[in-house]
Amino acid sequence: MASLTHSPAWNALEAHARAGKAIHLRDRFAADHARFSAFSLDAGPIFVDYSKQCVDAETMRRLFALARQQDVESNRDAMFAGQHINRTERRAVLHTALRDRLDRAVFDDGKDVMPGVRDVLRRMREFSNGVRHGEIRGFRGGVFTDVVNIGIGGSDLGPLMVVEALEPYRTDRLRSHFVSNVDGAHLARTLQALNPATTLFVVASKTFTTQETMANAAAAREWLVQGLGDVRSVEHHFVALSTNLEATGRFGVVPARVFEFWDWVGGRYSLWSAIGLSIALAVGMDRFDELLDGAYEMDEHFRRAPLEANAPVILALLGVWCSNFLGIDTHVALPYDQSLHRLPAFLQQLDMESNGKRVDRDGLPVDYDTGPVVWGEPGTNGQHAFFQLLHQGTRICAADFIVARDTHYPVGNQHQLLLANCLAQSRALAFGKTETEARHELERQGATADATAELAPYKTFPGNRPSNTLVLRKLTPATLGALIALYEHKVFVQGVLWNIGSFDQWGVELGKQLAPEVLSRLRGESSAGPMDASTEGLVAKLTTATTAR
Ligand code: F6P
Repeated sequence: MASLTHSPAWNALEAHARAGKAIHLRDRFAADHARFSAFSLDAGPIFVDYSKQCVDAETMRRLFALARQQDVESNRDAMFAGQHINRTERRAVLHTALRDRLDRAVFDDGKDVMPGVRDVLRRMREFSNGVRHGEIRGFRGGVFTDVVNIGIGGSDLGPLMVVEALEPYRTDRLRSHFVSNVDGAHLARTLQALNPATTLFVVASKTFTTQETMANAAAAREWLVQGLGDVRSVEHHFVALSTNLEATGRFGVVPARVFEFWDWVGGRYSLWSAIGLSIALAVGMDRFDELLDGAYEMDEHFRRAPLEANAPVILALLGVWCSNFLGIDTHVALPYDQSLHRLPAFLQQLDMESNGKRVDRDGLPVDYDTGPVVWGEPGTNGQHAFFQLLHQGTRICAADFIVARDTHYPVGNQHQLLLANCLAQSRALAFGKTETEARHELERQGATADATAELAPYKTFPGNRPSNTLVLRKLTPATLGALIALYEHKVFVQGVLWNIGSFDQWGVELGKQLAPEVLSRLRGESSAGPMDASTEGLVAKLTTATTAR
C-alpha cells in the first residue's frame, strides 16, 4: 500500500488544512447559521454535537474520502464477521459478540461462539442473583457484604468505571471494592475494614499470570485463610474470571466458580464478558443486560449507518483531523458527571493501549502521528485545575464534553449549574475573547487607560479550540453501554485510518520482562550481568539502609 501520507485523500486534507488554517470558529459560525444542525447527529441514545470542531462541509467530505480510501467499511465488517484482524496475536476481535442481542451465530474459526457466550451470561446471572439474595454464602454461612475485584488494566478499569457510574442502581447490602495496584497499600487499606467471613474475592485476569493481580490474589487468599482458619474457605470466597482455566485451578478456584471468556476478547474490551461479573454483583444482572443492550444499539448504529451519519466514524475522523492535520496531539475527556469520574482513565487505556503504535499493520514504521495523549477529569473540578492551559496555554487540546440532560441526584439547582458550566466552557474554548473585547470590558469596569493596556493581553482568550459535546438523556446502564461502545468503535476506526493494529499491546511487554531481573537485584541475588549505571545506582539507593532519610 502506498504510504498513507502520500495518498490522494491525505494530500487533499493537507491542502485543505493549509487553506483553512486562518478561519476562526467565530467566522465559521457567523458564516453558517445552520452549522449546529449540519454538524450534529443522534447515535442511538447519544447526541453528538461536533459543530465546535474546526471543520466545514468540504473538510468532512475529504475526511469521508479518507475513510473510504482506508476501507473503513470492509474493515468494520471483517471485525464483526470474526476475521482474525488482530494479526500479530492471530486472533479474532469479537467483543461485539458478547453483547449481540439477536439469536444468531457468530463464528470464530468456523465455531459458533454464541452458545458459550450465552452460557456464561446465564451462569453470571445465577451466581450474582445467588450472592445478592444471600443464597450463596461464605464458608461459615455468612451472607456476603463485600466484593473485592482484584485485577488491573482492562480487568479493573472497565468494571470499576461502570460500577462507579451506576452508583444509583447499586444495593447497599453488597459493597464493591477494586484492588489493582501491586503497592500493598491498596490491598491492605481495602481489607482493613472487611470481615473475611463475609468477603467475596473476584480475581479478574484474562491471562491469570499478571504479576500485580497474582500477588494481590495470593495475599488476599492468605488473609482469608488466616482469618477463617481453614484453607477450604478459599473455594467459597474466591471466584475467577479468566481465559486460563488451568491457572485458575492451580490457584484453588473450583471450576463452578470460574467464569470463562475467550482469547478473542481484548483486555480493554472485556467488561462485557465474565470480567463484568463485579458489575452484575453490584447492580444486578438485569442492569448488566441493559448495559449490553445499549452497547448493542451502538454496534448496530456503527454497522448500518452510512459513514456520513456514523458517530464512531465521525468522531474518529475528527480526531485524525485534529491530530494529523491541525497538529493537536492531546485529547481531553471531560465528563460533566461525577459518576463518570473514572471514564477518563478507562478511555486512556482504551485509546492509548490500542493506538499508541509506531509500526503499521505490515510492520513498517509510520511517518505520521498515531494515537493522541488521552487524559481528563470530571468537570467542574478540572475548571479549577488545568482549564487555564486549555484556554490560554500554547498547546491546543481537543476536548470531549460529556453530559447527561437529567440527573439522578436533584440537589438544589446544581444540575443546572453543571450544565451551564459545561456549555460555557466549550463556548469559551471555541469563541474566546478578543483583545478588543477584553479592553472594552476593562473600560466598562472603570480601569484606567494604563491598567487596560497592561491587563488586556492577560484577559484575552484566543478561542478556536475544538471540542465535541456528547449528550446523554440520563446516565443509565443502556446509555452508558452505548457511550462505551461509541468510544470503542471510534478507537477501532482510527486504527484503520492509521493502518495500525489496535488490538495488540506489545508495548507493555518490555517493562514486564525487565521487572524480574530488577527484582532479583533488589533481593540481593546475583543476576546475569550488571544493569545500566542508573538502575544499578537506584537499586543501591533503595536497598542501602544508611541512604534512607
Ligand atoms: O499489561 C497490559 C495488559 O495486558 C492489558 O492489556 C490488560 O488489560 C491488563 O494487562 C491485565 O491483563 P490480565 O487481564 O491478563 O491480567
